[in-house]
Amino acid sequence: MTIQIEQARRLAAQSKRPVFFTGAGMSADSGIPTFRDALTGLWARYDPTELATGDAFARDPKLVWSFYEYRRDIVRRCAPNAGHRAIAAFERDGKQVAVVTQNVDGFHQLTGSSQVLCLHGNIMENRCHHGCAGVFPAIAAADPGGPVPPICQGCGRRSIRPNVVWFGETLDEDILLRAASAVHECDLMVVVGTSGVVYPAAGLADLALRIGKPFVEINPEPTSWSEKATLYLRGRASEIVPQILGDGEH
Ligand code: OAD
Repeated sequence: MTIQIEQARRLAAQSKRPVFFTGAGMSADSGIPTFRDALTGLWARYDPTELATGDAFARDPKLVWSFYEYRRDIVRRCAPNAGHRAIAAFERDGKQVAVVTQNVDGFHQLTGSSQVLCLHGNIMENRCHHGCAGVFPAIAAADPGGPVPPICQGCGRRSIRPNVVWFGETLDEDILLRAASAVHECDLMVVVGTSGVVYPAAGLADLALRIGKPFVEINPEPTSWSEKATLYLRGRASEIVPQILGDGEH
């Protein structure tokens, strides 16, 4: 075991209130494509302005809907990996863990993490964006030939959209505030698998550095935080996270 992994293990063991700030790299080993990795990233293959904005949905709802159905199918075929499981097990071991995630796959919740702040929503849900503002599970191919946008089962309007944050939209203020206060109160910030280029989410890691929290970053590629991190661990989430937290298989 390298010295750095050993140091990270010690920081994790000593912490009482760690925050895990996760991005697409957290689920990459589950088989879910990231956004910005060259060749395999979604935004390397598709134009986000055509697929992930409110304007795009208004212009071509069928195209946007099919992109989200495609991504939902991927999530349905994948499962959380050893990294998600290790974070959930760390909480079961008695740590007061907060997970702040940019991911929309719901994998942290699936493995049993109880405090998960989803900054960018949940792709496995739809919501009504007029009338009733209801949130509904996105059932597999509920009505493949049905109208798009689908009809809201709450208020009967054609007002259903994926429950995710699109480019140009603001994040839920309450979730962002709770995430910032988790960072303020934490005694260890672990940043896993994010390029750190999307704000305001990335500002939470900036905040942790600015207020001097012990900061561990796990990513196969360095980011703008890596040189400032207390420890930068170069590697994959599914391998490094269990190495520093334990694999939870006890
Ligand atoms: P990105 O695709 O921008 O970055 C993914 C990061 O994961 C990169 O830094 C990779 O080096 C790293 N990575 C790749 N494989 C990994 C692995 N096996 N283990 C650990 N890390 C790995 O994804 P995000 O930073 O999450 O927003 O992107 C932020 C936001 O941009 C997303 O939430 C999404 C997107 O547009 C919305 O949907 C609003």
